[in-house]
Amino acid sequence: GCTGNAPAETGDSGQSGTVVEKTVYVVGIDGEYPPYSLIDKDGGSTGFDVESIQWIADDMGFEVEIKPIAWDGMIPALQAGKIDMVYSGMTITDERLDKVNFSIPYLNINQSVAVHDDNEFTLDQFKAGELIIGAQRGTTGQIWVEENLIETEIIPKDNLKLYDNFPLVIEDLKNKRIDAAIYDRPSMVAAIEEKPIHITGEIDTGEEYGVAIRKDDVVLLETINTGLAKLHKDQKWTELKDKYGL
Ligand code: ARG
Repeated sequence: GCTGNAPAETGDSGQSGTVVEKTVYVVGIDGEYPPYSLIDKDGGSTGFDVESIQWIADDMGFEVEIKPIAWDGMIPALQAGKIDMVYSGMTITDERLDKVNFSIPYLNINQSVAVHDDNEFTLDQFKAGELIIGAQRGTTGQIWVEENLIETEIIPKDNLKLYDNFPLVIEDLKNKRIDAAIYDRPSMVAAIEEKPIHITGEIDTGEEYGVAIRKDDVVLLETINTGLAKLHKDQKWTELKDKYGL
């Protein structure tokens, strides 16, 4: 605009020399991950993470398109540019940091173990390798079992069953095809609601959630970090935590 050959203002564009940039970022979520991200009956998206990114987008002046993606394909989709960020309760891990960047942490969680109400299975039995375990493929719950029970040869590999989404794990636990399920505690609480399943114990993994962003996308990383820091100081943060029981 400063080189003297900017188009003359004719008035029909409705803008007076200002370039209005409308940026749309595509946000990858797991559509079956309450209380963070879920697709409701009308196809709309909701949840703690979804409402958080909508607030940040409004505040920072960009638009978002929420896109459900299979959990296991989330980081590949990000790397391939099909989505611009993963905002879906993703734990910051060293292995993931090799591939992508993460925002500042926004929540802390532990793993939990759930069993059927008909069984008295304890966390000690779980840790002793006496149970058939179900986990969502590609989660930190799976990694915990692999590192602590399989690599240590406490259980054979086959005692861990992997599923593409967590509702499938809960379905098999309900029908007693597996003895126990492992998952992020807040999501476990949401998933077992009104089912004959209870939490038998918690594993203190001290995980931190972050928003995953492509390594070369430094502008977006800064935008999200600024937006998150502002959200954390806003009363909206407390409101959202209350609303979703976090
Ligand atoms: N926090 C755990 C992880 O990062 C579980 C996440 C599951 N998230 C989801 N959207 N299904 O592996």
